[in-house]
Amino acid sequence: MRRIYFDHNASTPVHPEVAAAVQPFLGDLFGNPSSIHWAGRDVRKAVEDARAEIASFYGCRPLEVVITSSGTEADNLAVKGVAYRPGNAGKHIVTSQVEHPAIMNTCRFLETQGFRVTYVPVNRQGIVEPDAVRSAMAKDTILVSIMAANNETGCLMPVGEIGAIAREAGALMHTDAVQATGKVPLAWETLPVDLLTFSGHKVNGLKGAGGLLVRRGMEIEAVLHGGHQERGRRGGTENVVGIVGMGKAFSLLSKNMAEEAAEVRRLRDAFERALFARIPDIVLNGHPTLRLPNTVNLSFRFVEGEALLLNLDMMGIACSSGSACTSGSLVGSPILAAMGADPTDSQGALRFSLGYGNTDDDVAYAVDAIETVVDKLRAMSPLYHPREAKWQNTRS
Ligand SMILES: Cc1ncc(COP(=O)(O)O)c(C=O)c1O
Repeated sequence: MRRIYFDHNASTPVHPEVAAAVQPFLGDLFGNPSSIHWAGRDVRKAVEDARAEIASFYGCRPLEVVITSSGTEADNLAVKGVAYRPGNAGKHIVTSQVEHPAIMNTCRFLETQGFRVTYVPVNRQGIVEPDAVRSAMAKDTILVSIMAANNETGCLMPVGEIGAIAREAGALMHTDAVQATGKVPLAWETLPVDLLTFSGHKVNGLKGAGGLLVRRGMEIEAVLHGGHQERGRRGGTENVVGIVGMGKAFSLLSKNMAEEAAEVRRLRDAFERALFARIPDIVLNGHPTLRLPNTVNLSFRFVEGEALLLNLDMMGIACSSGSACTSGSLVGSPILAAMGADPTDSQGALRFSLGYGNTDDDVAYAVDAIETVVDKLRAMSPLYHPREAKWQNTRS
């Protein structure tokens, strides 16, 4: 059966050059990078070269790159690291209602530890409005954490404007750029952001490596206390294979990002256009233009997202739904709920995220398959009456 991978926001295929770059570290290059003898030295150099590649991609200094095990760990380090940093008196954090669980649940945890968190809403198109952040600021706000791009809708947030508001109020600014990295430009030097999260496996690297950019001169408390690794900001022997792979992935991004983002946008736009032309009653969830070039989130009215997802899986197509099954009943995506989406629409929502390796043929096959499955599921739905259906598709 043909296999089409349209779930790059979940994880990405390992680039062949990444796989090749890590090979020696599965063999002779096994030393601990902290060892000062020969077995450690070459490995230390490889880790530092990877850090330099990441720094060069963002335009920051290598010392500003703290390597972690994942985007999740980096998000924890950003939020807890600021909350618990030495001398910190403030107890208030501002974030949004559409953050990834790595931020959401970290903030919820801090609420149990005496911190206050304001979860600012998004507008109907899924964007955090700077004014909403401005009005959420309190005298003791220590941190504003707003993602650069949303993982479900691809919506791009005005991080520059929000960072300026945070700084004006004397708070630090963190952005979770796990999804934005490699898809849209992020200029660390000019962005009013103090902390930025990234993850290796979202950019054709390996799972188990991510990181946090920490603006020079800034102190944060460690989450993992241990050895002196990462200048005391993250203890633990480095995942050398993951880090070397991530370094290679970032070096490829530095060379190819603009070209690849343009190609993926072309494919995504063709996919979206064809679906809108051929299938009635679909709704675009998210902003029509302020969106990652690879992502499209659609509600197929009168169809359950999970049913669609499983039927597409049987035809070899991998995509994702934000809804979750809780004790037998389908709960729509909290992200779409925060956007004020109709609950039935949000149950029929699917995210397609394209990326490295996708082709025009993939798009053509997927469009045919989706049309077939949607027709089949609607034919079985007691709610669907084609003659009454609105044949006008909506872009909310
Ligand atoms: C926006 C966002 N933040 C954080 C993460 C977590 O990254 P990781 O999978 O590296 O823990 C993800 C993963 O989906 C994400 O999309």
